[in-house]
Amino acid sequence: MTAMRRTQVTDAQVELEPVQPDPLPKSDDPYLLTPGPLTTSRRTKEAMLHDWGSWDASFNEVTADVRRRLTAMAGGGDYDCVLLQGSGTYSVEAMLSSFIPKDGRALVLMNGAYGQRAAKTLEFLGRDFVKLDKGDYLPPMPEEVDDLLTRDPDITHVVAIHCETSSGILNPLQGISDVVMKHGRRLLVDAMSAFGAVPLDVANVPFEAMVSSANKCVEGVPGFGFVIAKKTALEQAEGRSHSLSLDVHDQWAYMNRTGMWRFTPPTHAVVSFREALLQHEEEGGAPGRLARYTRNRDVMVRGMREMGFRTLLEDEWLSPIITTFFCPGDSNFTFTRFYDELKSRNFIIYPGKLTEAESFRIGCIGQLDEAVMRQLLTAIKDVLDVMGVKDCSPAPR
Ligand SMILES: Cc1ncc(COP(=O)(O)O)c(C=O)c1O
Repeated sequence: MTAMRRTQVTDAQVELEPVQPDPLPKSDDPYLLTPGPLTTSRRTKEAMLHDWGSWDASFNEVTADVRRRLTAMAGGGDYDCVLLQGSGTYSVEAMLSSFIPKDGRALVLMNGAYGQRAAKTLEFLGRDFVKLDKGDYLPPMPEEVDDLLTRDPDITHVVAIHCETSSGILNPLQGISDVVMKHGRRLLVDAMSAFGAVPLDVANVPFEAMVSSANKCVEGVPGFGFVIAKKTALEQAEGRSHSLSLDVHDQWAYMNRTGMWRFTPPTHAVVSFREALLQHEEEGGAPGRLARYTRNRDVMVRGMREMGFRTLLEDEWLSPIITTFFCPGDSNFTFTRFYDELKSRNFIIYPGKLTEAESFRIGCIGQLDEAVMRQLLTAIKDVLDVMGVKDCSPAPR
């Protein structure tokens, strides 16, 4: 069955509010409307106010607890979770090198910067691969994957990006997974920016392995990533990695044997991540978080469209993680000035990452709610007035 998520930005009129004091208990830092690092709760930050011994049993218990909770979030079963120092890219490289054998062949589904990075990583690793490149804003469709797998029986692994954060597109992972399973191939998922909010359960998407990192939808601070993988795949990964520090099998086996990390762990980030996981559960887990992020997106996208901005994507493909807008063609608009003016009003947005058009992005994840999004819209209106931008429609292409 090929089920795809359809989204629809709700039509409710967005009422702009004057900028109010922060409704959420946080510091005076600006709101990060970015895809991570993101705005974290005070509770998560406060969990970093203690020092932990990396060999001590109490820290090892935190590590074990985090691993258990993350495995459960993905549906548990015959899977296990391995934590890995570094940013998300380190975990992606670790996954690709540890799960694709040296004589394997991957199909990389690309529609943006992170798919391109996965392909570049495979080049570095000397792994054989083919790509399906859909450009900046079109999803790789299950039928296309079906066709490629039919025509190329040597493909052993399919690499998919769940939410391609460079455009904000939510790729049709369920349909892709169904096709990969039908062909008996193995699925590797970069779920970096989606995991913890967009549903990903091994009961529906029986991936070989997936990665995400601490500073995304679980709302922790940066410092480590994690791989969730089938235990059988973790066993088979022995001896495959080109790298000592990125060897997922070795990190897993060592953690299971000793309860510790092989090399210095980011102790503060791990302990505050556990606190973030507890808040994630209190909010209703991934469904609760998805509901808040979706409301954030709907209020923000609707308000931006009312001002005349255009989204890169049709509603059907908009993720609740981050949205790309075209820069206005109005000659008074420059992104740098827009960014600086918003920053002076306490909002940090994100530059665009499209290859062809001028754009910027606004994230919906982190400790933000719809009241914050309304404040943002008020601030954007004000900035446009100050800049003298009258027309927010993009320049003709
Ligand atoms: C889908 C995806 N993959 C990989 C990465 C790379 O993660 P990092 O920047 O933490 O190395 C990101 C970062 O946002 C991402 O969104």
